[in-house]
Amino acid sequence: MIGNSGRILKILRNSRDYISGEDISAELGVSRSAVWKSIGKLREKGYIIDAVSNRGYRLSEGIDLPISDEIHRYLDTECFGSEIIYMDSVDSTNSLAMTLAARGAAHGTVITADQQTNGRGRMGREWISPFGSNLYLSIILRPGVSPADASQIPVLSVIASVRALERMVSDLPFGIKWPNDIYCRGRKISGTLCEMKAEIDRVNHVVVGTGINVNLKPFDDSIRDIATSLSIETDTEYSRVRLAAFLLEEFEKVYNRWLIEGNLEFIIDEWDEHSLLKGKQVDVRTVNRVVSGKVAGITTNGALKLELPDATVRFVYAGDASLHGASQGS
Ligand code: BTN
Repeated sequence: MIGNSGRILKILRNSRDYISGEDISAELGVSRSAVWKSIGKLREKGYIIDAVSNRGYRLSEGIDLPISDEIHRYLDTECFGSEIIYMDSVDSTNSLAMTLAARGAAHGTVITADQQTNGRGRMGREWISPFGSNLYLSIILRPGVSPADASQIPVLSVIASVRALERMVSDLPFGIKWPNDIYCRGRKISGTLCEMKAEIDRVNHVVVGTGINVNLKPFDDSIRDIATSLSIETDTEYSRVRLAAFLLEEFEKVYNRWLIEGNLEFIIDEWDEHSLLKGKQVDVRTVNRVVSGKVAGITTNGALKLELPDATVRFVYAGDASLHGASQGS
């Protein structure tokens, strides 16, 4: 953020107590009304700034909004998140990202939101997206690869999410359930919805939308047994802003390496280490059937490798896996 707003934000951050408009205007050499206008702009961006007469302004403690300026304080990427569009409320960051991508938004553009009113999960499911507690982030990608190769992107995104979560909380066990769910101690903490607009031989754009339960409190009976959050697991609050920056950094790293290598070989071991399904009997629901078998791992192009009861091997490219005999989604 440049200009007066950025400089005022810095002053507010550095001052422990209220600071008067007069002091700010003197420090910056601008008029009181310019200070007042800039404070208004900061509030529009989502900053909570208390104003008390005779005392001045104070930046509210603990603000953790995944807005562009905040994420950029931590973000160290070349391209991912160069542009970040924040919505306090949106139907779905993925839907907005798909619309913006169709209108030409650049590779690496990110949409974040504080709340989703129609958060979407895989297989037409809902993604519960309450206000102010979790991370909802979608990124627009324009990979110069075939649609078949682009289907490897969900594997990259789940590895990026695991790495970001481990940077945030190093001692929690995060496990991957193919294709891209992340579980912690038996309950789901993160999911990713990847959508693509493509022609038969060419990808127009891909949107990778990740939801991570960050500061969600013990909640709703309907999902209490199946979902968790970082805060539920550790009884601590975490910064969504820092998590967003970690996610974008890790995603850019694996994405760039994948473009160079051309396949997923370089992350197979890491995937195996975190896999909740490797060696287990599973049922995989695909578009038109259920395939049951033992998970042998994933291939270098992202397919799930299943050993069937008749000793043949089957590769599944898309679907929803659950432990054999368990209810769907578990
Ligand atoms: C799943 O596990 O089924 C995928 C959940 C994906 C949720 C994220 S939240 C950000 C983005 N916007 C959406 O509407 N969905 C994804």
